[in-house]
Amino acid sequence: MDKALSGIRILDMTHVQAGPTSSQLLAWLGADVIKFEPPTGDVTRGQLRDVPNADSLYFTMLNCNKRSITVNLKNPVGKQVFVALLKKCDVVMENFGPGVLDRLGFSWEAIHQINPAIIMASIKGFGSSGPYADFKAYENVAQAMGGSMSTTGFMDGPPLVTGAQIGDTGTGLHLAIGILAALQHRHRTGKGQFVEVAMMDGVMNLCRVKFRDHQRLTRGPLTEFSVPTEGVKDTPRSGNDSGGGQLGNAVKCKPGGPNDYVYVVVQEVVWAALARRIGGEALANDERFAMIQNRRKNQQEMWRLLNEFASGYTKWEMMALLNEIDVPCGPIMGTDDLVNDEHVRLREMVVELDHPERGKWLNVGMPIKLSDSTVPIERSPLLGEHTEEILRTVLGYSEVQVATLKQGGAFSKERPKP
Ligand SMILES: CC(C)(COP(=O)(O)OP(=O)(O)OC[C@H]1O[C@@H](n2cnc3c(N)ncnc32)[C@H](O)[C@@H]1OP(=O)(O)O)[C@@H](O)C(=O)NCCC(=O)NCCS
Repeated sequence: MDKALSGIRILDMTHVQAGPTSSQLLAWLGADVIKFEPPTGDVTRGQLRDVPNADSLYFTMLNCNKRSITVNLKNPVGKQVFVALLKKCDVVMENFGPGVLDRLGFSWEAIHQINPAIIMASIKGFGSSGPYADFKAYENVAQAMGGSMSTTGFMDGPPLVTGAQIGDTGTGLHLAIGILAALQHRHRTGKGQFVEVAMMDGVMNLCRVKFRDHQRLTRGPLTEFSVPTEGVKDTPRSGNDSGGGQLGNAVKCKPGGPNDYVYVVVQEVVWAALARRIGGEALANDERFAMIQNRRKNQQEMWRLLNEFASGYTKWEMMALLNEIDVPCGPIMGTDDLVNDEHVRLREMVVELDHPERGKWLNVGMPIKLSDSTVPIERSPLLGEHTEEILRTVLGYSEVQVATLKQGGAFSKERPKP
């Protein structure tokens, strides 16, 4: 079946998380993604292993629907295979540390010369320019430097990282958008271009509303915050405040476990119905909460009343009774709640896959649903599983040619003798 990105071939040199999540998404949109690995493989294959000698979940969950070829780029014959593949691909993706590809002799300029139509997509911690350009980065480094950590958590505690992988996967999403735009541009002009996303920039983009608040602070305190903001320069950590124009918070439910909370947004239009449900007519007519500005001022008392009410219900009961009166809310769902949730399973956001080394495992599904381009999720490739297939079908090499390349060390771990 024809898929949205059918006919697009991607040479995917990415490793760890930021790049692989991006190329996995493109594979799920229908591109032929060739994972180009060193003979030792993407380092995550062996990280956080839960099954001895099997590819880790870290790897299998980020590399579905790809083919794997292993080539030693530190070997001159291996470099020839890389050059041949560059000529046959529409996109090359990488997220190596600063300067790695230049040291291997493959700067953007060199790659562009080899194939002027190829799009090169690159992730770096801080981009290719500016004082931080030479620094490596991981997820939490990007969260620390992009504004996320300083605005997450409570003011009387340390800055916190968020569980969502906004530095890695978030950057991968930005990169995928850049690649799709560059493909469209190439469709019109025939020209390839360099697409770069810095992890710090991606996190800043995702923290956009925190910079809204940063500038509002110069005009006075932020009355929607549940913490004092008078005279503050940095956007403060605001706990579970909604961060928008409406008041919101996590409300504790019974039986009081770590995830027994429901997040409630006290939207202006639902206040009367909500107040009536939790405190009858007396609360619905209480002047302290009559308008949003009153509720902002008296929000501690409002949350106390909501918590008191919720203590008699589970988070699921709260979800049901609040939705009955159209109050936007969400029970805090743990990972175990999620993998077993009927709605999640129905939407194929958790799918079961089979792997020759590890057996059955669960993968998070594809969040973007295209009505005319569904791609079944397939297991990640074994290391070098498709090396011969790619050499034959993509490069058209004969058995003899493949044997010669092998002899020259193109696919082995060893470096050529100096
Ligand atoms: C993630 C990161 C910190 C990991 O650092 P690292 O493990 O030291 O890996 P690097 O990317 O710096 O280097 C990879 C090495 O593998 C080598 N390599 C990669 N592919 C190869 C191949 N096919 N054949 C031979 N060698 C290969 C490179 O030449 C390089 O070796 P060198 O150090 O001798 O130059 C770094 O890659 C980085 O900062 N990436 C950009 C930001 C990013 O994406 N971070 C998020 C990761 S989730």
